[in-house]
Amino acid sequence: MPSENSTDGRSSRTSALDMSPAEFREAGHELIEQIADFFESLPERPLTLAETPAQVGELIGTGGLPSQGIPASELLREIGPLLFDHSLHNGHPGFLGYISSSAAPLGALADLLAASVNSNLAKWELSPMASEIESQTIRWIAELIGYPDDCGGIMVSGGNAANFLGFVAARKAIIPWDIRKDGLYADPRQLTAYVSRETHTWIDKAADVCGIGAAAVRWIDTDDHQKINMNALREQVEIDRRNGHLPFLVVGTAGTVSTGAIDPLREIAAFCQEQQLWMHVDGAYGGPAAALPETPDALQALTLADSVALDPHKWLYSPIEAACVLTRNPQALPDALSFRPPYYEFDDESASGIDYYEHGMQNTRGFRALKVWLGLRQAGRDGYCKMIREDIGLAQRLFQLTEAHAELETRTVNLSIVTFRYVPTGIRGAADAVAAYLNDLNKALLADIKKSGTIFLSNAIVDGDYLLRACFVNFRTTNSDVDAIPQIIVDTGRRLDETMRPLELAT
Ligand SMILES: Cc1ncc(COP(=O)(O)O)c(C=O)c1O
Repeated sequence: MPSENSTDGRSSRTSALDMSPAEFREAGHELIEQIADFFESLPERPLTLAETPAQVGELIGTGGLPSQGIPASELLREIGPLLFDHSLHNGHPGFLGYISSSAAPLGALADLLAASVNSNLAKWELSPMASEIESQTIRWIAELIGYPDDCGGIMVSGGNAANFLGFVAARKAIIPWDIRKDGLYADPRQLTAYVSRETHTWIDKAADVCGIGAAAVRWIDTDDHQKINMNALREQVEIDRRNGHLPFLVVGTAGTVSTGAIDPLREIAAFCQEQQLWMHVDGAYGGPAAALPETPDALQALTLADSVALDPHKWLYSPIEAACVLTRNPQALPDALSFRPPYYEFDDESASGIDYYEHGMQNTRGFRALKVWLGLRQAGRDGYCKMIREDIGLAQRLFQLTEAHAELETRTVNLSIVTFRYVPTGIRGAADAVAAYLNDLNKALLADIKKSGTIFLSNAIVDGDYLLRACFVNFRTTNSDVDAIPQIIVDTGRRLDETMRPLELAT
């Protein structure tokens, strides 16, 4: 029997998790104050304290599950500072590692609002307003990048999940038997998928989990600019067909994870059309840059793809998690994924909008679209174009600064990713030994920089060389943040070189 109170003739249940409106208001206001201070202080905070797991673990203790509860406001007062002080801040202006953006503050409020209403976007009937907003978000993202806005699509957790759905849609659309019912066993041919060597590792996971096996992924060589080699692609498809395999998918990447290279998407589209293959574009990182009128034709040709994955939590600056997949055929996802269970009613479908559980892997689904939709409305197309263009400008600026520095060697600049390395003066010796030492030195340099708390970079390997990599998807980074980078790298490089350089490589 629940314990109940009665006020004004209406009984209410007391629960360990509920909060009175007054308590919620007070705790909420206090939390918003804490968060506003956190945002304000971000540029002055250390980007990271580079603590060990033991140091961080100690802060929350090793006690078992508490049996007694603690008031909500007390908990929020405690957890806020723990997170603000002991996180690695990808919203810090110096954060240029991997592809994590500064998150729009409105997105944080959107997540609070979405969790408060707690809509379940499995079925339209359970989430009328939220589902309509998700549909509009998908149309607007398509419109932003020039993709047909009558496409299908769904919001998912991240780039991996979005690319996965493109893979699954391709499998269903191209394979000539009922793969969903009969699986892979109905035909002895091996399914094969084609990607460049620079493709993100989601493809391995997708091929593995879908039972095709990672060996069925054909990693096609790239040219000198890290783009898929079309001749090698054509050759491999021909070889596979001759050997009785069943090619079904070509993936083009619009902004590779390491160097931001854009595959020749127009040529891939023509090839896929000729060969009756599904064209999927991994635009998880670079897709939003297609919104810029000045963007290269190779990127704009992403509109020709059968499916496109995009990650608003990368270059649309949404808080994690937010991604989406778009499909040219609006039925492609339900064709590949829908099962209709008896516990859902389908009597009056004309009264229903899209039931998103039929378009993806999840049943119960959260309202990820809200933060993206609000971001698109807050910034508008023009606001997004300006931010993306400025990020690209910062990458160009860093590229020029590193080019101009005698101890820095620039390697690539594509979209908003720059790669370069530290090369100390006076290094000489056998080419192999120099190459190995430069790799070790730059690896150590990156490890040092990542702990510094001032900037955060990541790495890329290009032609066997270990490079430093800066990726600008951060609306808080300024020109002066960029201008400081070369000296930070060179000072650190010189310090490490003094102790690391082997005698045989010294002048
Ligand atoms: C090109 C590309 N594809 C896919 C992914 C995976 O995205 P997520 O980490 O959101 O799953 C990334 C991540 O950086 C990426 O750069």
